[in-house]
Amino acid sequence: MNFIDTHTHLYAEEFDPDRDAVIQRAVDKGVDRLLLPAIDKSYYERMMSVAEFHKTVCFPMIGLHPTSVKANFREELNFIKETLEKSREKFHGIGEIGIDLYWDKTFVNEQALAFSDQLDLAIKFQLPIAIHTRNSFDIAIKLIRQKNNPELKGVFHCFSGSVEQAQQATSLGFMLGIGGIITYKNSGLQKVVEATSLDLIVLETDAPYLPPVPYRGQRNESAYIPLIAGRIAELKQIPLEEVAEITTQNAVTLFKLMLDAGS
Ligand code: NI
Repeated sequence: MNFIDTHTHLYAEEFDPDRDAVIQRAVDKGVDRLLLPAIDKSYYERMMSVAEFHKTVCFPMIGLHPTSVKANFREELNFIKETLEKSREKFHGIGEIGIDLYWDKTFVNEQALAFSDQLDLAIKFQLPIAIHTRNSFDIAIKLIRQKNNPELKGVFHCFSGSVEQAQQATSLGFMLGIGGIITYKNSGLQKVVEATSLDLIVLETDAPYLPPVPYRGQRNESAYIPLIAGRIAELKQIPLEEVAEITTQNAVTLFKLMLDAGS
């Protein structure tokens, strides 16, 4: 049984002491492909060196995270654009991008501009997007709708919205990234998973954040993906194998992982 973690910040400092062991534990659990969403330029070298060193397991994205959108966001966006022009083939998506109105609203206009520009890059370079929304689903989906481009594909990472919002996202052809929150009691996400076809779901950890039960309060890691898949299997009353198979296929198709000769 194999799984794909479509969202882990494996290159973060939290994994410096034992990154190789973290990867090994994931692979041992069948979680043998990991997508690495970007944060900003300051993490770029770290992310790429992890991806380069673990080529058959790690697949990087490029993008500017909404909480990293500051006064210098134009410079950050230029870096992304230039990097894509030089080496588009290294990347499996644009992410994570989006709008975050939870932490800090100082740069909310810049966040919207940066998101919109990165949607254009995704269309231009034909890459799927990993979308971060926090208290901002309606704004994000409005910006996506404005592009009115059926080529735009991707995943609402760490989806935690309502059934109605899930339907808005999936009716535009987007997938839902389901993570550790599905194992929390009364998260509201159970209803969303029950109402959403498995064909529209990918698995993710968002490591080092949001660990599933029973690891709450600890560092999250990709080896916990089967716990998330297990909860989905329970809710949908289907075998774990089916969750593994279908979500893996969804991720392979969306992020074009088959094209990578190394894997
Ligand atoms: Ni993330």
